[in-house]
Amino acid sequence: MAGHTENEIVINAPMGLVWDMTNDVESWPTLFSEYGAAEILERDGATVRFRLSLHPDETGTVWSWVSERTPDPETRTVRSRRVETGVFEYMNLFWEYEQVDGGVRMRWTQDFTMKQSAPIDDEGMTARLNRNTGIQMARIKRIVEEAAERAAGGVRFDHQGRRVLVTGGTRGIGRGIVLAFARAGANVVTCHRSDGPAVDSLVKELSETPGDHKVVKADIGNEADIERLIGECRAHLGGIDVVVNNAGSISHVPFDKLDADEWRRVLDVNLTGTFLVVQKALPILTPGASIINIGSKVASVGIPLRSHYTASKAGLVGLTRSLCKELGPKGYRVNIVAPGPVETEEEVTPEVRERYERLTAVGRLGVPGDIAGPVLFLASDLAAFMTGETINVDGGI
Ligand SMILES: NC(=O)c1ccc[n+]([C@@H]2O[C@H](COP(=O)([O-])OP(=O)(O)OC[C@H]3O[C@@H](n4cnc5c(N)ncnc54)[C@H](OP(=O)(O)O)[C@@H]3O)[C@@H](O)[C@H]2O)c1
Repeated sequence: MAGHTENEIVINAPMGLVWDMTNDVESWPTLFSEYGAAEILERDGATVRFRLSLHPDETGTVWSWVSERTPDPETRTVRSRRVETGVFEYMNLFWEYEQVDGGVRMRWTQDFTMKQSAPIDDEGMTARLNRNTGIQMARIKRIVEEAAERAAGGVRFDHQGRRVLVTGGTRGIGRGIVLAFARAGANVVTCHRSDGPAVDSLVKELSETPGDHKVVKADIGNEADIERLIGECRAHLGGIDVVVNNAGSISHVPFDKLDADEWRRVLDVNLTGTFLVVQKALPILTPGASIINIGSKVASVGIPLRSHYTASKAGLVGLTRSLCKELGPKGYRVNIVAPGPVETEEEVTPEVRERYERLTAVGRLGVPGDIAGPVLFLASDLAAFMTGETINVDGGI
C-alpha cells in the first residue's frame, strides 16, 4: 500500500506572512531544522526548482535532492514533487493554508511509495515523516509567530523547539542555564567531566521536563571529547540553534608559583575549549544561531592569584569580537555573559558572603538563575540586533 501522511498546525500570524515565510525556499535552512542548504536552480513562472541538502550526517555525507513546487496564492495551495526521487518511487506534496479561529491552519499532505531497494518500507517512512513533520511544524510556528510579533512591534520570549548545547551543565551556573532552557521549551544537550550525584539528579530532573534532552560525559579540555559531543548533538538534535560555552576551570595560584602546565590547563578549557566547540559546531549551526560565551567580570577588572583565569576570560572577548564579524554574515550572533560572584554548590564562608553583600549594589551574591536570564535573552530573537557584546551580570559590583 502507498504511503500517505496528513499533518496540520495553526499559526497565530497573518495569512500573508505565513504564506510568504513558508514559501520562501531560500530561507528554509532557518525555517526547518533538517536542511543545511536550499539552492534555487530555476524559476519558471510560479514554479521553482531547487536543491535541498540535509546537514552532514555522522560520516560527513551530505544527502541532497532536487524538488519542484508551484505555489498558487489565489487558492493558498502549493503542489510539489521530488524531481530526484532517491529512495522514493515518487513523492508528491500538497500544502493548504486556511484562515481559522486563532490564525492560519497549514496542512501538509504527502503521498509516496518507497523503492523496493529502499532500506525502509512505506509504513516505516510514514511513521518517520509523521514524527519529523510534527517537529518541523512546531519550529515553523514559533519562527513565524515571532516574526509576526516583531512586525507588530511586540516582543516574544519563547524557546519552544530550539536546539541548545550548554557545556558544563551538571552543576552551578551551567545547570541553571540547562534547566531554564528546558523549562522554556528547548531541547538541550549538555556535558560534564566527572560522574556523581549531580549528573544523576540532572538526568532525573530533565527526564521530568518536556523536550528531548541528553547529558553526555565529555571533557571540554579534550579535542576528541568535543568532537564526540558535537556528534551527539548531530545525532540527538539534528542541528544546533544555540551554543552556550559555560564549562570553565579556575584555580588560585600566586603568579610567581604559576607553572606552565596549570596555565595551559585553565586556558585549554576556558579559551581553547570555546574555540573548538564553536568551530566543530559550525557545520550543524542553523542560520540565526546564537553563541553565548560565559566570561567573567574579573576579566575586565583583574584579581590577584587568578592571572591565568582572567587571561583566558579576557581572551574570550577578542574571540567573541572577531567571531561576531566573521560569522555575522552567516547569520550567527556571538556574545558574552560575564558573571560577577555567583553562589553555586561550593561552600561560601561567612566572610566572603559578607564582603560581597557589601560590594554589590543589590546587596547579595548572584544565583545561577541570575545568569540564565540574560543567556536566554541573548539566545532569543529579542536580542536579534546584539552581537559582539559583553553583558556584565554582577549585581552592580
Ligand atoms: N560562579 C561564579 O562566581 C562565576 C563568576 C564568573 C564566571 N563564572 C564562570 O561561569 C562558568 C560556570 O562556573 P560555575 O561557578 O558554575 O562552575 P562550577 O560550579 O564549578 O560548575 C562547572 C560545571 O562545568 C563542568 N565542567 C567543568 N570543567 C569541565 C570540563 N573541562 N569539561 C566538561 N565540563 C566541565 C562541571 O562538571 P564536573 O562536575 O564534571 O567537573 C560542572 O557541571 C565558568 O565558565 C566560570 O568561569 C563563574
